[in-house]
Amino acid sequence: MANIVIVGAQWGDEAKGKIVDFLAQDAAMVVRYGGGNNAGHTVTVGSEEYKFHLIPAGILNPNILCVISDGVVVDPGVLVKELSGLKSRGVDFKNLKISASAHVILPYHCLQDDFQESRRGDSAIGTTGRGIGPAYSDKATRIGIRMGEFVDPARFEARLNTVLAEKNALFTKVYGAEPLDAGKILAEYSRYAAELKPYVQDIAGLVFEAAKTPSGVIFEGAQGTLLDLDLGTYPYVTSSHPIAGGACIGTGVGPTMIDAVIGVAKSYTTRVGKGVFPTELDNETGSYIREKGHEYGTTTGRPRRCGWLDIVVLRYSARVNGLSCLSLGHLDVLSGLDSVQIGVGYSTKSGETLDQLPSDLPFRTDIEPIYETLPGWSEDLSAIRSFENLPLNACNYVKRVEELAGIPIGTLSVGPAREQTILFNDVLERTIRKRLS
Ligand code: IMP
Repeated sequence: MANIVIVGAQWGDEAKGKIVDFLAQDAAMVVRYGGGNNAGHTVTVGSEEYKFHLIPAGILNPNILCVISDGVVVDPGVLVKELSGLKSRGVDFKNLKISASAHVILPYHCLQDDFQESRRGDSAIGTTGRGIGPAYSDKATRIGIRMGEFVDPARFEARLNTVLAEKNALFTKVYGAEPLDAGKILAEYSRYAAELKPYVQDIAGLVFEAAKTPSGVIFEGAQGTLLDLDLGTYPYVTSSHPIAGGACIGTGVGPTMIDAVIGVAKSYTTRVGKGVFPTELDNETGSYIREKGHEYGTTTGRPRRCGWLDIVVLRYSARVNGLSCLSLGHLDVLSGLDSVQIGVGYSTKSGETLDQLPSDLPFRTDIEPIYETLPGWSEDLSAIRSFENLPLNACNYVKRVEELAGIPIGTLSVGPAREQTILFNDVLERTIRKRLS
């Protein structure tokens, strides 16, 4: 094993949790490097299904350290609830660490998120409403409260009073709302702080040491490349850095310590919230994929927009993340379609063909996807464990995706369970393990 970043190669919800859980079995540590409880991972082990919002998916393995790092924004109420839910199912947290530098989401962030979204009207982003944007904004404006301060009662009270005075001025004067009560927030959040305090520490040295061991670190990304604040489809993005580079920013590990980057993609594309989506299927096929793939948000329950696989997006992801290989999932969902399509480029109204993602994509009204159509397959793939046993048309689809994207496929998923994974060991050896030699 090596130090591997697991990154969403599309607009999030690519089922990164499954591959993290799978690789975590051999790792020393799993670090969640960005985002907050806008994310949701579902991991299936045997007949048990676990849903995670903040806790790294590696927590199911009691032998590895699991870290919520500096780059994450933590809603303490959500984390406490997540911990108690998992504890009641026998999950052990002795190996959980929360960075003292991670920023805290407080009630005023969620309120601000709601006010900002309602004010945007038709140009609302479609955020998860979890206070993510305002929490990262406060970090950038340097008024954020970090976990280290949060679990220190005197410092938390002092900081809360200062910041709340500013937020209440905003709520009352700009939004015409009632001010929030510092005493109420303090009473509720001090309880969370006391519960979380044992897990909070400086984590930079810890991650660095684990990254030097032969077992290495899995850097668990949240959201996806196209939701990155700088490199995504701005402004319809989240406020953090889901890209592979975010693993360095969010954990304090230098780029030269990363050995490999695995991009996780679905065999089709989904997106939640507003924003450009060239290969979207606003029709029966889109609904078929949504229902068959259970494409409803883990966090918000919102129906996800569904569409064909977009190779332009994958090529872009391969470039900006420096992908070593691809982990292609949800192939089983495409079973039952007479034909399947792959978006291989965009054509513009002026007759141009684009095979790379244009930076002004969110505002382009003049582009249409160019599709390649392949024959579909009807067989249920969920019990198939080797590439050779897949129906010929499914094999051809996967090979064509690999060829068009220009990145080798390392794993293929035919269902949510750990064992529903087909490994391409030659690719994994070449792109992950060989880097140790
Ligand atoms: P925010 O992260 O709540 O501010 O939302 C900003 C945009 O990112 C919205 O379009 C959300 O739907 C999207 N988003 C945030 N987290 C996720 C995720 O985990 N999966 C998919 N979309 C997400």
